[in-house]
Amino acid sequence: MTDTTELRPRKLFIKTYGCQMNVYDSDRMADALAPHGYEPTPVIDDADLVVLNTCHIREKASEKVFSELGRLAELRREGGRDFTIGVAGCVAQAEGEEIARRSKAVDLVFGPQSYHRLPELLSRVRRGTPVVETEFPEEDKFEHLPLAQKQVIRSRGLTAFLTVQEGCDKFCSFCVVPYTRGAETSRPLEQVLTEARRLIEAGVRELTLLGQNVNAYHGLDAAGRSVGLGELCARLAEIEGLARLRYTTSHPSDMTDELIAAHRDNDKLMPYLHLPVQSGSDAILKVMNRRHTRADYLRTIERIKAARPDVALSGDFIVGFPGETDADFEQTLSIVREVGYASAFTFKYSIRPGTPGADMDGQVEEAVKTERLARLNELVTAQMRGFARACVGRTLDVLLDKPGRLPGQLGGRSPYLQAVHLEASADLIGTVQPVLIVGAGNNSIEGKIVTHAERNPASVLESQELAAI
Ligand code: 5AD
Ligand code: SF4
Repeated sequence: MTDTTELRPRKLFIKTYGCQMNVYDSDRMADALAPHGYEPTPVIDDADLVVLNTCHIREKASEKVFSELGRLAELRREGGRDFTIGVAGCVAQAEGEEIARRSKAVDLVFGPQSYHRLPELLSRVRRGTPVVETEFPEEDKFEHLPLAQKQVIRSRGLTAFLTVQEGCDKFCSFCVVPYTRGAETSRPLEQVLTEARRLIEAGVRELTLLGQNVNAYHGLDAAGRSVGLGELCARLAEIEGLARLRYTTSHPSDMTDELIAAHRDNDKLMPYLHLPVQSGSDAILKVMNRRHTRADYLRTIERIKAARPDVALSGDFIVGFPGETDADFEQTLSIVREVGYASAFTFKYSIRPGTPGADMDGQVEEAVKTERLARLNELVTAQMRGFARACVGRTLDVLLDKPGRLPGQLGGRSPYLQAVHLEASADLIGTVQPVLIVGAGNNSIEGKIVTHAERNPASVLESQELAAI
């Protein structure tokens, strides 16, 4: 019998946990492996290589990895099929060897800075001792990661992520990111533009620029000059075919005048901004080492709204940080009421070993965290629904990006990232249409296409209306 294993295309299954940066990274790992014969599969049972791209941000997220590794070990033992198991992402970076010690099934552990070395790392994998690669290499991984083929980009949809900045120097006292993703680095301007052109030529209409601290972006241009995020957005907006730009996640202290001006001047930049504050209490912001006060944050929002009155905000909030009193928590509720969020992500503080918060006095009891989270969630859910209802009767520009749930329907995204359903013919996929919003559900809004002439003049949400929600 002839051995055909070498000729058979190998199948890759990546399971992605956590943030959008991991989603982007998973695609780049697939791109790195494509020239080596690996094809993505959505079916884990078909895979020759399973990669878990992990998240370390909260304890629950990290622990999921170990239960998944247990399941994979069993699948390999009992399924009668051999496959390679790799662990990537922030748990890999933070725990390295420890993962291999805790789970004997793991063949390869590799951190986010080594993704370009994946083919070589795989060739080093032999059953026995796992390969662990968590160094921060000298070379720029992005220089060595191949760009995706156009048909692969197309298969991923009309919106795409593009990482422009990695790492963080802020050292908020609850956060593992400065340790797992390292110091802040920005990709050079031309490198970002090249990747963006490739995505847009393949049909991408909306780009979301990513970074753990994306608004600290300061990439070098060809002349060696440092370029900020506002200028990067201006250069990207010049690319024909690009309809929309977004960026996430931002730190309030890095909302420079230049970037705020871009919200006024760059009409491809969507009026929707994720700007986490974490807490509304100055005492807690201080121990969190956020480097800004409640008043600083509110002033920043005023500046943004002055530049772009229809901007809507989303935020992240942590309840139960060490030392948080009832009064501090009330301050968080009050900042949420004062700002009026279109969307919000809320978390119970989770102790992360190695971060300053882990050793602080005044750890808050779990039951108190649970109760505070429920109260905060009630408020932000009401705001999210209120925001969706406030869109009814207005005309929003919607990027139609996919077929809808029913025949004759399409799905799209509003400027505020809401899922929109409407009736329209499939040839409109990839276009931006003015859509009169006629209904708001819990997870999506409904609308109908109107002509530009019919546009409701009240097409934008004014800042004072938002704050009143
Ligand atoms: N506990 C709870 N939430 C956290 N986040 C970051 N670290 C922690 C932690 N230790 C939240 C922050 C951050 C978001 C990505 O995750 O709100 O903005
Ligand atoms: Fe973590 Fe964001 Fe703070 Fe950086 S700015 S330490 S990524 S929460």
